[in-house]
Amino acid sequence: MTPSDADFERAVALLQGGELVGLPTETVYGLGADAANPAAVAKIFAAKGRPADHPLIVHLAGHDAVDHWAEQVPAVAWELMETFWPGPLTLILKKQAWVPDAVTGGQDTVGLRVPGHPVALELLRRFAAVAGLHAGIAAPSANRFGRISPTSAAHVAEELGDRIPLILDGGPCKVGIESTIVDCSRGEPVVLRPGHISPEHLQAVLGRCPNIETASGAPRVSGSLAAHYAPQTPMRLVAGERLLDFLNAQRHKGDTCGVISHSQPPQAGMPHPWRMLPADPVGYAHDLYAALRDMDHANVSLIAVEALPASPDWAAVSDRLRRAVAGAGKD
Ligand code: TXA
Ligand code: MG
Repeated sequence: MTPSDADFERAVALLQGGELVGLPTETVYGLGADAANPAAVAKIFAAKGRPADHPLIVHLAGHDAVDHWAEQVPAVAWELMETFWPGPLTLILKKQAWVPDAVTGGQDTVGLRVPGHPVALELLRRFAAVAGLHAGIAAPSANRFGRISPTSAAHVAEELGDRIPLILDGGPCKVGIESTIVDCSRGEPVVLRPGHISPEHLQAVLGRCPNIETASGAPRVSGSLAAHYAPQTPMRLVAGERLLDFLNAQRHKGDTCGVISHSQPPQAGMPHPWRMLPADPVGYAHDLYAALRDMDHANVSLIAVEALPASPDWAAVSDRLRRAVAGAGKD
């Protein structure tokens, strides 16, 4: 799925004019604005209903632009860029003095990423060609604040279609959960948000396993709020071996449950909307948000999700699921 030349031209014109554009990345869809234009960036917060102290990630066409946005970039950050960009890794670096507070939430750091999606890269290159070689697109996930991140253009339309003039369709997102965030601004790299690029991947570059600091409820990383990525229907995590009993008990109480599992249903012909996801963490991540969104529309009073294995390779999806459960059904 590739947008036409005219679509790209329109997207660039909108960005230059200080307007918003929905764009695909390999992780989730983003809601983009010219990162150097505070008035344009303010429109992102208004469209999402997101608190203004939550910093945004600036997407760049390539490494060459990094020094324009960040200073005192440590050698280890360059190594991470070399290995993982373009790709699902965001680096937190000391910002250059000029970088607008609207982007950084008033902090002295900035989040940078070169995305791996060909449509995102093409848009970034075309935007840089007219706005300056170092131009960046500030883009959070293109969902309303606290909701499930969109992994298709249709999801973006559902979330924000009435608030943005253009959504570039790049097909379904390959990764399906948000980028790994690594803070390189405070000495030793620290993982602030787990993702497809795992601590083991990072270790191969760093020579040791990075510290992980994702538990905080402070808004430095908005995805780190305990409740996030959430459907409107309440959710419960249920151990696979308890699932059948749980569903029977709920049915007796008059609750209609939808189920998201990664194991086969315990019996044939279960009377529940049932979505079985791949039993590996990469496949699961790819399908998770679409499954949550579908279940949210399935007219059930509760979404039961089979609890995930505790092993480290499931850490990133477990993180998203925990936050979805904490935020589900809140309004
Ligand atoms: O995969 C992704 O990262 C997607 C795509 C669109 O690139 N974007 C995304 O953006 O997930 P958003 O805004 O939903 O999450 C970005 C996270 C937020 O939790 C934000 O707090 C954190 O990055 N962040 C951005 N700048 C930061 C900074 N200077 N210090 C700490 N955290 C920062
Ligand atoms: Mg988000």
